[in-house]
Amino acid sequence: MTRVSASGAVHAHAGRSGELWAGYLTQFHAHHPGITERVLTSAWRHDVGTPYAWLRSALPASPGHVLDIACGSAPLRSLLEGAKTYLGIDRSHEELALARELGRGPVALADATCLPIEDSSVDVVICSMAIMLLDPIDVALAEVARVLRPGGTLATIRPVAWPVVPSDLMRGLTVVSGLRHLPEMPQRFGRSRFARMLAEAGLTVTADEGLRFGYPLEEPEHARLAVEALYLPHVKAPRRERAIARLARAARPGAQLPVSIRRTIAVRAA
Ligand SMILES: C[S@@+](CC[C@H](N)C(=O)[O-])C[C@H]1O[C@@H](n2cnc3c(N)ncnc32)[C@H](O)[C@@H]1O
Repeated sequence: MTRVSASGAVHAHAGRSGELWAGYLTQFHAHHPGITERVLTSAWRHDVGTPYAWLRSALPASPGHVLDIACGSAPLRSLLEGAKTYLGIDRSHEELALARELGRGPVALADATCLPIEDSSVDVVICSMAIMLLDPIDVALAEVARVLRPGGTLATIRPVAWPVVPSDLMRGLTVVSGLRHLPEMPQRFGRSRFARMLAEAGLTVTADEGLRFGYPLEEPEHARLAVEALYLPHVKAPRRERAIARLARAARPGAQLPVSIRRTIAVRAA
């Protein structure tokens, strides 16, 4: 299926698979608001802290007008006190309700593919752990480019498979053998494809780096959260429980699961 934007450009539409994912994500975040934040605030690296702190560190101390797309529970809000203004948008009522309950905001219900924001009015767009969910991605990136001022910055982090360390592979296998399925994402793209998509939207990559963060696997509850945070549209509850039970057996002081993240920064041409 295709659709034609106001500018006349023809965009690929993910069709039935896109609709299935949209429904799954709506349900997932309605039942688990704040789950990404619970995982990422426990994931840590000695040199940069949490993935959120790493994303924040790519931006100036006073980043100007900031738009946080697919903000979820808005975990980045407190790291952006130096911003002139902050607005978080998400399409999950439940995630936004949690953000408000935690005193974060302002936040608004909106879809990243149709931003309720004026052209060239934002200095920084951030997108944490969500760029691979936005569909159609070319429409969402065109929206980012539209709302950014010339010279403005897009800063993203997204989950990736690498880097990992050897002990991660065994724990990964434990999870996958319990699930009998690989975790899924609506879209996957490597660094060069992402750079090409950004370029097509008028955004130039200025920095791109992957890091492995360690998520503690010290108690059975850590195993439960790690598995429950995965998108598993094709895995039924008994298999999830089996993966949790197998992973929980590996819980011990000092044990970790990998949270591998890629940070990509891009700038709109001045
Ligand atoms: C993995 S969570 C990340 C939340 C938050 N940014 C964080 O890092 O904790 C993904 C979020 O993307 C939101 N989302 C997915 N597709 C969206 C879209 N097209 N427009 C707005 N939000 C979207 C979901 O509702 C969910 O809150």
